[in-house]
Amino acid sequence: MEGEVYYPSQESTAQSYVQDWEALAESARNDLQGFWAERANELFWFKKWDKVLDDSNKPFYRWFDGGKVNITYNCVDVHLQTFRKNKLALIWEAEDGKSERTFSYYALNREVSRMANIIKAMGVGKGDRVTIYMGRIPEITFAMLACAKIGAIHSVIFGGFSVDALHERIADSESKLIITCDGSMQNGKLVELKKIVDESLRHCPTVENVIVVKRTGHEIPMEGGRDHWFHDLCALPIANGKCATEVMDAEDPLFILYTSGSTGKPKAIVHTHGGYMVGTYTTLKYVFDINDEDRFWCTADPGWITGHSYLVYGPFLNGATVFMFEGGPAYPYPNRWWQLIERFGISIFYTAPTAIRALMRFGDAWPNKHDLSSLRLLGSVGEPINPEAWKWFHRVIGKERCPIMDTWWQTETGAFMITPTPVVPLKPGSGTRPFFGQEAEIVDEEGNPVPDGQEGFLLLKNPWPSMMRTIYGDPDRYVSTYWSKYPGKYMTGDSARRDKDGYYWIIGRVDDVIKVSGHRLGTAEVESALITHTAVAESAAIGLPHEVKGQAIYCFVQLKPGFAPSEDLSEELRQHVSRHLGPIARPEEVSFIDKLPKTRSGKIMRRVLKARAQGLPEGDLSTLEE
Ligand code: PRX
Repeated sequence: MEGEVYYPSQESTAQSYVQDWEALAESARNDLQGFWAERANELFWFKKWDKVLDDSNKPFYRWFDGGKVNITYNCVDVHLQTFRKNKLALIWEAEDGKSERTFSYYALNREVSRMANIIKAMGVGKGDRVTIYMGRIPEITFAMLACAKIGAIHSVIFGGFSVDALHERIADSESKLIITCDGSMQNGKLVELKKIVDESLRHCPTVENVIVVKRTGHEIPMEGGRDHWFHDLCALPIANGKCATEVMDAEDPLFILYTSGSTGKPKAIVHTHGGYMVGTYTTLKYVFDINDEDRFWCTADPGWITGHSYLVYGPFLNGATVFMFEGGPAYPYPNRWWQLIERFGISIFYTAPTAIRALMRFGDAWPNKHDLSSLRLLGSVGEPINPEAWKWFHRVIGKERCPIMDTWWQTETGAFMITPTPVVPLKPGSGTRPFFGQEAEIVDEEGNPVPDGQEGFLLLKNPWPSMMRTIYGDPDRYVSTYWSKYPGKYMTGDSARRDKDGYYWIIGRVDDVIKVSGHRLGTAEVESALITHTAVAESAAIGLPHEVKGQAIYCFVQLKPGFAPSEDLSEELRQHVSRHLGPIARPEEVSFIDKLPKTRSGKIMRRVLKARAQGLPEGDLSTLEE
């Protein structure tokens, strides 16, 4: 094999589910539907499907059509009939370390059922949307599983988003109910989630009720008739710990999750009960090799797809013990995560390159203070991992024993698409090859495959069970965004190259999506936040490389007449974005420009701004307006 290769050790592969990668890949290649049917058969169905894959109306693929199922039943109820009833399902630790909560699968069922009964009592039923906006606390997990149990569609909004982003997503989904908490803790500071909900709800007529979980205990206003304390509801007779599971069609929507695209407002990606369940269950099992002895920690927030698939659904489907931590990596000290790995005996640790880079900067002494010998597998997701960070993670955290699963996937794919398994030789910075049943292709603008080693657009060739089904309320956009440019193939929006060994190397987004610390944001969202400021006539946001965050947001603003550029105004605009869109979207820098470079048809040439900002050649300027 070419380049630097890390071969799997006997120790890391001895108990691996996948012993013969080539054979399994071959079987999936020869019989895609048979491969997935076999995996689906490991889960519980109220009624088996009539057809594994219905592709009669491409690209609106249907999986396990005719099947009757419920994902929560598979995450919780099925385990109660086994020894797992008494097994730990969830271990949670508060940011300040002062509180630790644990739930067996038995307790998980009680919590989820109680929450489900409460949600039902609020008049929410099958197909209704529920917005969940909370910190990383156990109740967010219960709320998601509870919605799924009764067939309601959850829409989780990341707690790092603010008023405008929340408002837009609640309004678009026409949610009836919001589940939130009084606040969340971040690096010792209070984030006033309920206050943000109150502001967002000023013009959201569909919302009838707000359930508020007490987390911080600080004073918050409660609106009579609309807002209800969760603990008060729990004291009512409706809140009993048993709840019947709604029998769902395999293709019924499970959740929507908003994500940023190239242009316009965020898209609500739709995932389903059946296919998403089979996809997340199988990928977690094979890639992270999860079994009953493991303690699995995925550091993602439930507000993103990684949190949905691998902090909540995937692990519970596998009957795993999940660890959830409320806080971030370096508060109060840069050893917080390493301390937790030692304290809780984490065996599989899945995180993002930005966190690895940030922690690496603090030096080896912090992790070296801790016994990390419980670890056996590591994982990375969200953006390309630079080989330097990969090697540090491998050497200092994994002690050269633990393979790193660099998993490439997207909100839209629901589950891993390009990823190793523990038996696959690794190359730092490459997600290796497509998962079983998948084939990728790298093409030029016209759709012709490019030679190995050359950069091009990354496409996926085969349908897969956990694929998005549509964009909520906008099926045309689903077709035009993902399936139109290269008909019959799924356009990922990423560029990549393949090496001679068939390994894929993701380069990055080719559209106007920015990945800030792995968080997916659209330039359009940042620009529409800026434009609501009285001084701003027009603006352009771009992503530029950043040593720790991967990418950071830089904005160029054209001011309205009567406003003058100043340091203060620049800072005010950064705060404005943070307040409206969310602290995660706070621009690194806002600078002022007399005139934005545009094409003759009026499109902002972000490419030119990017080149200028980095002192690079500006390229072809023939379409630039005079
Ligand atoms: O650019 C790719 C990058 O993240 C994008 C998807 O973002 P999102 O929908 O928020 O999902 C993130 C978590 C699955 C992709 O188009 N990306 C994700 N994982 C990797 C990655 N880039 C390189 N390597 C990865 N492992």
